[in-house]
Amino acid sequence: MAKKTECLLSFTISAVETSYESASTRFSPADVEVDVAAKSLLVTGANSGIGKAAAKEIAKRGGTVQMVCRNKERAEEAEEEIMTETGNQNIFLHILDISNPKEIWKFAEKFKNEHKLNVLINNAGCMVNQRELTEDGFEKNFAMNTLGTYILTTALLPLLEKAADRGVITVSSRGMLVQKLSIPDLQSANGTFDGTMVQAQNKRQQVALTEQWAKAHRNIHFSIMCPGWADTPAVSSSMPDFCQKMKNALHAEAQGADTVVWLAVSSEAMKLPSGLFFQDRQPVATHLPLASTYTPPEDEEKLMEVLEEFSQKFKSTSPGT
Ligand SMILES: NC(=O)c1ccc[n+]([C@@H]2O[C@H](COP(=O)([O-])OP(=O)(O)OC[C@H]3O[C@@H](n4cnc5c(N)ncnc54)[C@H](OP(=O)(O)O)[C@@H]3O)[C@@H](O)[C@H]2O)c1
Repeated sequence: MAKKTECLLSFTISAVETSYESASTRFSPADVEVDVAAKSLLVTGANSGIGKAAAKEIAKRGGTVQMVCRNKERAEEAEEEIMTETGNQNIFLHILDISNPKEIWKFAEKFKNEHKLNVLINNAGCMVNQRELTEDGFEKNFAMNTLGTYILTTALLPLLEKAADRGVITVSSRGMLVQKLSIPDLQSANGTFDGTMVQAQNKRQQVALTEQWAKAHRNIHFSIMCPGWADTPAVSSSMPDFCQKMKNALHAEAQGADTVVWLAVSSEAMKLPSGLFFQDRQPVATHLPLASTYTPPEDEEKLMEVLEEFSQKFKSTSPGT
């Protein structure tokens, strides 16, 4: 990781990070002591890290879990683990690469005909450290973290609209605090490519998406959150030096998933306004004081327009194609 990036990240972490243990003393255990057997919840990236931990907690509470994962073998292993540990057999597996727009539309069309959905959890994410393109020509981090999240959510909104207690939760990161939304270079083609900063920009873009969705769809509850720094495969593989340095300060995966689970199952969370950013079960600011990261509304609207334009290019007009 470049020195400047490391400094910025360390600064941000010291400015915003709290200890999970101290934060959890104000949690109300009753919030998550609930039965969600009547609900269907879709978790992307449910085979690993925070997504798997969240899927397990939802399964323990009786919920139907729709796992959306890209690797069949890893996903089947995780599905087996979740079923065995929780005794919940209502776990369904769907294989999807969320960086492939056409496949997302196809998946959503099929899913809409076969399942109901109360809560969508956009957890899957990546940090690719070199500038690489998908087969459709999108920069890989943008394709998964921003465009993929946008298309999956957009495609499933009509299904969510039919359900009760409907919500969309996106797993972002407070690493985004170091980034101002940048529309002209969404594919990170200009300047030196720094995977950490590119991912932070994608996480900022997810904040903009959530705020815009919350404005446009008043009957669905949108939230976005930061899991804190958790010891997961993503962190150890994408940021090995950082992971080594922070080893003792990193959260366990279940701790990273705690706010996701709270947002997904708690009626208390649903009572809070839509479109907010959460950490440790409470709303937090999306900008640091004096950081000059404020986004004019027209930039957020422009982002939505660009994503909509990209997404429509891959929407098939006839089912199954
Ligand atoms: N851990 C942290 O400290 C931390 C901090 C801030 C934010 N986050 C966010 O938390 C979320 C979960 O990450 P994690 O830390 O739990 O890491 P993880 O264990 O590596 O999980 C990431 C998940 O995303 C999936 N994924 C990646 N690219 C995908 C694609 N193109 N299509 C479908 N699935 C894809 C991965 O699938 P494979 O197993 O096939 O790779 C994996 O299941 C991410 O959005 C991450 O940015 C994590």
